[in-house]
Amino acid sequence: MELQPDRAATRDEIRCFREQGHVAVRSLASADEVAEFAPSILEAADLLAWNRNVPPGEQGTYDRAFHQAIGLCWHDEAIRRFVFAARFARVAAELLGVDGVRLYHDQALVKRAGGGATPWHQDAYYWPVDGGSAITMWMAMADIPPEVGSMVFADGTHLRGDMRGPAISDESEGYFALLIAEGALPTSAHGAMQAGDATFHEGWTLHSAGPNPTDRDRPAMTVIYVADGTTVIEPERDEQRLDLALYLPGAVPGDPAATERNPLLWGSGMGEIAS
Ligand code: SIN
Ligand code: NI
Repeated sequence: MELQPDRAATRDEIRCFREQGHVAVRSLASADEVAEFAPSILEAADLLAWNRNVPPGEQGTYDRAFHQAIGLCWHDEAIRRFVFAARFARVAAELLGVDGVRLYHDQALVKRAGGGATPWHQDAYYWPVDGGSAITMWMAMADIPPEVGSMVFADGTHLRGDMRGPAISDESEGYFALLIAEGALPTSAHGAMQAGDATFHEGWTLHSAGPNPTDRDRPAMTVIYVADGTTVIEPERDEQRLDLALYLPGAVPGDPAATERNPLLWGSGMGEIAS
């Protein structure tokens, strides 16, 4: 099944994304489409999550928040069709307001049954590209009940850029929770999701997620896009240096974020798309 670019971002979705830095896009994939792709994605996530085998007694906050498997599209042709889907990339480009988007990377994030909260953080902390040129699609790969829910966003924080917090951890939770409390920053949650519902958030949008008190895993698949034409910035921290080596192999500061690992997924010049 091909995920055709048959859906444009609506005016309300674009306004919400630009004003708040996040938006929920319901039914971006149908239940049938998720049913086709979820088995490969979840199997690969189980196999490839780098923190899947950390014994419970040794798990830190990060391990309890989710099992994380990155770059699934390079392991499986079916997953590649999902990650490269023009339907998702088109919405990402329209929300960002750019002509085209490239893949930065994909990752499955499975919050295990009984898993912990995802601390407040800004994704672009890790990225050697401007957070304002990057957008994440986070899609529910199963129905997610209200007591688990999806992410919580601090509205409008994308406009603040780098809020200078630490990497995702208990420290980032404390740092950003205090900023939110002291600044009385509004937050929004999109709540329960059906399989195929998605949220999109900008690279600097501050976000977190609650714990999973249920006995079922909460599987999510994400695709991170960068605007076509985005250039690599000078990394200022080790996390950005690592991301540069992993997801933009061979690129150096000033280069376009457009290595062979960053195919154009929506925009002109689509002939470049690998399959
Ligand atoms: C989560 O899935 O719990 C967090 C996802 C994110 O931080 O982008
Ligand atoms: Ni995040």
